[in-house]
Amino acid sequence: MKIYEKLLLENKAWAAEKVEDDPEFFTRLEHIQSPEFLWIGCSDSRVPANEITGTQPGEIFVHRNIANMVVHTDLNLLSVLQYAVDVLKVRHIIVCGHYGCGGVKAAITQHSYGIINKWLRNIKDVYRFNREVLDAIADDGERVNKLIELNVREQVMNLAKTSIVQKAWQNEQRPHLHGWVYSLHDGLIKPIFEMEAGTHIDPLYEFDDL
Ligand code: CO
Repeated sequence: MKIYEKLLLENKAWAAEKVEDDPEFFTRLEHIQSPEFLWIGCSDSRVPANEITGTQPGEIFVHRNIANMVVHTDLNLLSVLQYAVDVLKVRHIIVCGHYGCGGVKAAITQHSYGIINKWLRNIKDVYRFNREVLDAIADDGERVNKLIELNVREQVMNLAKTSIVQKAWQNEQRPHLHGWVYSLHDGLIKPIFEMEAGTHIDPLYEFDDL
């Protein structure tokens, strides 16, 4: 059996098991999805959104990229965000980073990785904004982990700077924003930052004519 054929075989078993547990499972999900959550996570294969949160198909709308970034020129992220907020009307957006993130580690080296340099530059900026705090941490691993937390916080703030989120805050008092960090070591998620809908940010970033 080829390695990818195992995936198709597992899929058959999974689908059969779902129907056995709940005969209506697929018919119920076929025509409607109404998730409460948008998840913005790292592409890392060890951090699967549904599995680590014990959620089922239909419960979380997911966007993943390297180092769980919210970049305002990323049409993919913006499209997912707008659809989740305006159409699906999610109540919560979770930015979930993870300790030991390779993207964050790469960003603080001086190595050139090719086109991904442009993506990682956004993480270098987060380091620069917090240089004093980070440079004061002697241990390399601890410093990376602190940057991972600060990066999650920055990406949550990037969400709050979008007109998509600000408009929903004004009109519907949602979504609430959450910054979490997952530990590969013990599988636990640590909430590190939160923004209630309507939280005021630096006025420089607040639109007053949405
Ligand atoms: Co990662």
